[in-house]
Amino acid sequence: MTDTTATRVALITGGGGGIGRAACLEFARKGYRIALCDLDLERAESSAQAVRAAGGEAQAWLCDIGESAQVQALLAAVRARFGRLDAAFNNAGQSALRTPLAEIDEADWQRVMRTNIDGNFLLMKYQIRWMLEQGGGCIVNNCSVFGLGGSLSAAYTTSKHALAGLTKSAALSYAGRGIRVNAVCPGLIDAGMGARFIERSPEQLDATLALHPAGRAGSAEEVAQAAVWLCSDEARYIHGHLLAVDGGYGAR
Ligand SMILES: NC(=O)c1ccc[n+]([C@@H]2O[C@H](COP(=O)([O-])OP(=O)(O)OC[C@H]3O[C@@H](n4cnc5c(N)ncnc54)[C@H](O)[C@@H]3O)[C@@H](O)[C@H]2O)c1
Repeated sequence: MTDTTATRVALITGGGGGIGRAACLEFARKGYRIALCDLDLERAESSAQAVRAAGGEAQAWLCDIGESAQVQALLAAVRARFGRLDAAFNNAGQSALRTPLAEIDEADWQRVMRTNIDGNFLLMKYQIRWMLEQGGGCIVNNCSVFGLGGSLSAAYTTSKHALAGLTKSAALSYAGRGIRVNAVCPGLIDAGMGARFIERSPEQLDATLALHPAGRAGSAEEVAQAAVWLCSDEARYIHGHLLAVDGGYGAR
């Protein structure tokens, strides 16, 4: 644990999910105080409890990141509770099935875009305003290898490409004003939606793993550690980078 981060605060969205929970624990292990939110308050409270059980400080909030008023209320609550925002891991996301474009239900398309694009836009808008006022900060968005290349899920792939664009655009705008914006791009992770994919489609697992030269799915901790590192001073000259955490998937 480094003393220099002892008073820093990290906000983790989707903190009740597979990667989110690991991120809460990993940021806390590095000395951050943890603010987290999720659509599922019970799971968010459980992650906060896990941080406290490990000796950290954490508070969970219910928040639908697709609603501007809820995002603004969340950040006001974090400010009232912790007073500052050093790192934001914008991790909350909605998955979508491998539905070809012409078969996609329009309401399902909106469900994915509302969280993965609109939600992250709203979070970044208000996080950046706060960080500018504060004099700096770091944002890491949880994108995907499907933000770097195509996949058979048109909705999910489109939303993650948009998030990659938001990441790079925000990095360009704010690099000179003390704010670093980057993303992690996980391959198949054995947690959260990746674990649900493995459970739902065991017959597709071998083919999917064959696309990951490491020969295995990644862990939630491996993604969390990459996000924490991107927020660290060791990564201080890294702006607008889309960091693949993918067992070599993207090296093909
Ligand atoms: N697991 C993988 O294989 C994998 C691979 C690449 C990228 N990702 C990305 O990692 C992130 C975390 O996913 P995960 O695998 O932990 O899945 P997960 O479903 O366990 O976690 C996602 C969390 O986000 C929350 N959430 C969804 N919509 C929300 C909203 N509108 N407001 C607030 N919270 C909301 C969910 O309640 C859930 O707890 C996602 O952005 C996902 O796209 C995951």
